[in-house]
Amino acid sequence: MVDTNDTWIVERTGIRERHLACPDIATSDMAVAAAREALARRGIEAREIDAILLCTVTPDMMFPSTACLVQDRLGAAGAWGFDLVAACSGFVYGLTVAAHLVGAGTHQKVLVIGADTMSRIVDYTDRATCILFGDAAGAVLVEPSEDDLGFIGHLNEIDGSGAPFLNMPAGGSRRPASAETVANRLHYVKQDGQQVFKYAVRKMYELSSALLAKHGFQPCDVKCFIPHQANKRIITATAERLGLPDDRVILNIEKYGNTTAATIPLGIYDALAEGKLKKGDLVLFAAVGAGYTAGVNLWRWAY
Ligand SMILES: CC(C)(COP(=O)(O)OP(=O)(O)OC[C@H]1O[C@@H](n2cnc3c(N)ncnc32)[C@H](O)[C@@H]1OP(=O)(O)O)[C@@H](O)C(=O)NCCC(=O)NCCS
Repeated sequence: MVDTNDTWIVERTGIRERHLACPDIATSDMAVAAAREALARRGIEAREIDAILLCTVTPDMMFPSTACLVQDRLGAAGAWGFDLVAACSGFVYGLTVAAHLVGAGTHQKVLVIGADTMSRIVDYTDRATCILFGDAAGAVLVEPSEDDLGFIGHLNEIDGSGAPFLNMPAGGSRRPASAETVANRLHYVKQDGQQVFKYAVRKMYELSSALLAKHGFQPCDVKCFIPHQANKRIITATAERLGLPDDRVILNIEKYGNTTAATIPLGIYDALAEGKLKKGDLVLFAAVGAGYTAGVNLWRWAY
C-alpha cells in the first residue's frame, strides 16, 4: 500500500501486528463486546451500572454519543454517560473521572470503556501514520473498595499548543465535510511524529515521577507500569528513566499497534492474563495524546 518495510516499522515503532475491524463493525460494537466481558468477569448485570464513560476519538457518529448507543445495546437502563474525547489519554482521563464519581459516593458502578476504530480515520496512503494504528476496545468497572485498595491519585494536564501536531482537520464546525475536504484528504489523522514523540517522552516521565513523589512512592514501588502504546521507544525511554525493570513494564504494542483509547485496557487485559498484575499491586497508568493531552494515574489494583 505504501513504500515501507517490516524492518523499518519494527525498528522505529516496535509494531509487528495491527488488527482492523471488519467494515460492518463500528466503535460501539467493539465497546459493547468489551463491556460484556468486563461485566461477565465481575458477575454483574448491565442494569446495575450507574455511568458509562466512553473514551474515543472515533465515535460511531458525531451525535448521539457512542455512550448512548452502548448503553442501549447493553441494556444498562439505570446509567447515564458521555463520550470522553482525549485521544490517547482518553482512558486515563476516564479512570480519573470514574474514580472521582465513585469517590464522591454518588456512584457505585462506573464502566470506563476505551474504544477506537482508528482504521476509519487513518490515511492508508500516508506511510508515516498508517503503520502505527489499529482497532480495539477494552473496559473496566470502577466500584467503591472496602479496604485500602483502589485509586490513589492522578496528574492530568492538557496543552492545546500541541493541536497542530496531531489532529483530524475536517469534519467539525471549523471545516465541515465537503467535496473539497474529502478531495484534500482532510478527514484523516495528520501527525508530525517527531514533535509528538519528543513531547511524549518528556511528559510520560515528568508526570510519572511527579505523581509518585506526590504520594511518597519511589519508582521501585511500582509493580506494574501500563503506559499508552504509541511507540516502543517512548515506553522504553520512560521506563529506563524511571529505573523500572522490563518485567514490570507492559509492552504489547507489538501485537496491536497504537489503538488510541484502547491501549491501556488492552495492557490491563494482557497484564492480568500474564500474571503481571495482581490484587494489591501498585499500578501506574501513563498516557500522552493529541491535544496535547497527558495524564498519569496511580492505583492499588483491587481485583
Ligand atoms: C511516527 C514515528 C514512528 C516516525 O519515526 P521517526 O523516527 O520520528 O521518523 P521520522 O519522522 O524522523 O522519519 C524518518 C524517515 O523515515 C521515513 N518514514 C516515515 N515513515 C516511514 C515508513 N512507514 N516506512 C519507511 N520510512 C518511513 C520518513 O519519510 C523519513 O525519511 P527522510 O529522512 O528521507 O525524510 C515517530 O515519530 C513516532 O512514533 N512519533 C510519536 C507518535 C505518537 O506517539 N503518536 C501518537 C500519540 S498518542
